[in-house]
Amino acid sequence: MTETFLNLIGGKWVAASSGGTFADINPANTDDVVAHFQSSSVDDVKAAVAAAQDARAAWRATSAPKRGEILARTARIIERDLDRIAEGLTREEGKTLVEAKGETARAVQIFDYFAGEGRRLCGETTPSEFGRTLLYTVREPLGVVGLITPWNFPVAIPAWKLAPALVSGNTVILKPASAAPFTAMNIVLALEEAGLPPGVVNFVTGRGSVVGRELGANPAVKGISFTGSDTVGCSLYGQVTGRGGKAQCEMGGKNPVIVLEDADLDKAVNLCINGAMWSTGQKCTATSRAIVHESVVEEFTKRVLEGVAAIRVGNGLDEDTQVGPSIDKAQLDIVLEYIEIGKQEGAKLLTGGNRLAGPEYDKGFFVEPTVFGDVKADMRIAQEEIFGPVLAIIPVADFEEAMSVANEVRFGLSAAICTQNLSRAMEFVDRIEAGLVHVNSPTVGAEVQVPFGGMKDSSTGTREQGRVAVDFYTEIKTVYLEY
Ligand code: UN1
Repeated sequence: MTETFLNLIGGKWVAASSGGTFADINPANTDDVVAHFQSSSVDDVKAAVAAAQDARAAWRATSAPKRGEILARTARIIERDLDRIAEGLTREEGKTLVEAKGETARAVQIFDYFAGEGRRLCGETTPSEFGRTLLYTVREPLGVVGLITPWNFPVAIPAWKLAPALVSGNTVILKPASAAPFTAMNIVLALEEAGLPPGVVNFVTGRGSVVGRELGANPAVKGISFTGSDTVGCSLYGQVTGRGGKAQCEMGGKNPVIVLEDADLDKAVNLCINGAMWSTGQKCTATSRAIVHESVVEEFTKRVLEGVAAIRVGNGLDEDTQVGPSIDKAQLDIVLEYIEIGKQEGAKLLTGGNRLAGPEYDKGFFVEPTVFGDVKADMRIAQEEIFGPVLAIIPVADFEEAMSVANEVRFGLSAAICTQNLSRAMEFVDRIEAGLVHVNSPTVGAEVQVPFGGMKDSSTGTREQGRVAVDFYTEIKTVYLEY
């Protein structure tokens, strides 16, 4: 019997007022229904917001170090349950067990890191113009915040929004993506077990167009942190900031790796394959463009094709699988459509391009890892986010051309260069329009102790993770104290 899970509102697990539920399905095998979750209505969201408002005063009055201690206990619980959480993640999202374990371990680091933030959460003291005056700042929580999280990092992204929101003293409504609510719920259960008071985190599942929209519209929700598509992110940003709320949106990417003539080619090939193919290319930091100096493009392409030919696609629960399925039929269709567009635009399909068929694949949404050569910088496959295992190789004549191709997209999340030349590398660091810059390392990955976020249309500018994460979740109060 497949279990049905409830919403968490004010410390009680309750059914949605609509009485409706939806299925959370394994994208590697649609016969495997992981669980059912609540299709919440606007009234359920209103109840969660009211519960979060009721819990505000006591949570704000709990000292930041004490709030941090609950996060530290949460880290230990996630660590204890790591294998179980990771297995659930693979079942509902499709990424491999190795990736799911790595992501869950990252959530442990995130809770530990922000537990420490409870003992910092610093303001500043500043000399005053006046005598006998202490001039200083303190950080205060925003109040009730809404966290809207995507399916592609179902444990790390809820963790990296929840931990700074909570340590800063906010109360929260978490709305996870409907394709992966089970993992997010496991984090909420860990927080509950760690002793988080009722109402501090509320968990409400359901459609973005109902739950997300009401969180965006509700004036009691002072801040919204969202990760997902740029279409939804931009409209949510307008909705929330239009009513005077604070919004933080992390959206798409079209991340390049520049490979110069002096690059360590094996390294360049490995990091492009890793960045483009692992997690089925379903990362906003995924590498989708290899911008390669023409003198090495032939050798680079040959080695990429050798590497891609060796990739084992399958169910993420099988130990030898390296690339799992797309999240659902709609996403698979988008990837296949972009592959058609690439062919029509005149890019050279070098490998892949098809949905995988056969007994192992027919019940899932599997696509072959795909590589295009001879891609031109203005083609749609070189401009638009695909969110699938598709790499476009763009040959260029020199460093200048590489730089302009790299920057001539509307996104600016992550970018990498492979070179042994320090001045070239530093010039790239200066000129690239991206929030995350890598020299000889892949475009993917994010250490918890440094800021994460993009420039241009990738992000609304505020950063997540690292010490600056609390900037979004706090307001600054300036105090003039004359004695
Ligand atoms: C990573 O590259 O490990 O949604 C993190 C995403 C990003 C997170 C990427 N916000 O793909």
